Amino acid sequence: MLISYNVSLKPYNTFGMAVNADKFIRISSTEQLLEVIDLGLEPLWILGGGSNVLLTGDLPGYILKNEIRGITIIHETDEELTVEAGAGEIWHEFVLWAISRGLGGIENLALIPGTVGAAPIQNIGAYGLEQESVFTCLKAINLKDGSEKIFSREECRFGYRNSVFKQECKGRYFITYVTYTLRKNGHTLNTSYGAIVEKLHEKGIQNPDIADVAEAVIDIRRSKLPDPAEIGNAGSFFKNPVIKEGHYLQLKKDYPEIPSYPADAGFVKIPAGWLIEKAGFKGIRRGDVGVHKNQALVLVNYGAGTGKEIVELAEDIRETILQKFKVSIEAEVNIWK
Ligand code: EPU
Repeated sequence: MLISYNVSLKPYNTFGMAVNADKFIRISSTEQLLEVIDLGLEPLWILGGGSNVLLTGDLPGYILKNEIRGITIIHETDEELTVEAGAGEIWHEFVLWAISRGLGGIENLALIPGTVGAAPIQNIGAYGLEQESVFTCLKAINLKDGSEKIFSREECRFGYRNSVFKQECKGRYFITYVTYTLRKNGHTLNTSYGAIVEKLHEKGIQNPDIADVAEAVIDIRRSKLPDPAEIGNAGSFFKNPVIKEGHYLQLKKDYPEIPSYPADAGFVKIPAGWLIEKAGFKGIRRGDVGVHKNQALVLVNYGAGTGKEIVELAEDIRETILQKFKVSIEAEVNIWK
């Protein structure tokens, strides 16, 4: 096991925050992880692709960079293929692996930054699909005693950008492998999302296949979301809030154009990006941090911004929206303090 000291985490977080880790360990197998646990090293911080964290200062303790790789087919029928992927695999590369084999089920989730192991933690979703719809189970190691636990879909308790790993299991497990079941035949494409319909129409595609949908998603994401290689960001900074239907109808009186997504009976989900834009924050810049010009849900670091400045901006946005719309929005990104 190799421990590196005083390592800059700038290349390891898509916000591009220039903070240092006291100690940094790459984990490429379960055995290596068990060695770390046996030594009783503390505290441990688990880092995947660094695309959903905001680092606000130097980190004491040990950063464990999940680099467990490998994609293994574990079961196959005429209709389906069950595949286990190392949690350190890059999510988008896994999507491309599936598409190149004509496997359906994750094409709408193309180009989402981050690793396979992070996907179930926040139940990644986009364009009408969440990873839970193809999720089978995952393997995780308990950081206290090194025991392995297999979590079924039910045990993961997936919700909108939520799972047991963001609740009572937070920080307690290191996810090593995730298993998904993908469709070989008879896959139903999910092209219901407005932007996908428009993109396919624009390209003149009438009978799309899996690769066409993935390409449409990639085009849409590239046109709306900033590339972290150019401008630091972690995708949507806030979750879309779910409010009571009565509250929504009240807001609709003042803002007839307010967009909405369906939610549980009696509730409505509102795009936080719309609220942020309406509150006047879209495209603003404060020093080296700001709100993206094409998608107000994305906070950005133009280079020398700090995590604390992003937190201050996010707090200002949150307060303003609470005052203006009486809607409370919460961060989707994990803030490491
Ligand atoms: N909108 C605005 N102004 C903005 C941004 C959005 O008015 O600045 C409005 C749009 O006009 C549209 C609605 O809000 O009517 C929805 O916008 P969009 O389709 O861009 O989706 P979103 O609700 O803002 C969510 C996810 C994204 C995912 C897209 C597509 C969350 C927190 N975000 O964004 O996920 O890609 O839907 O499915 O649920 C991520 O999690 O990092 C992420 C990018």
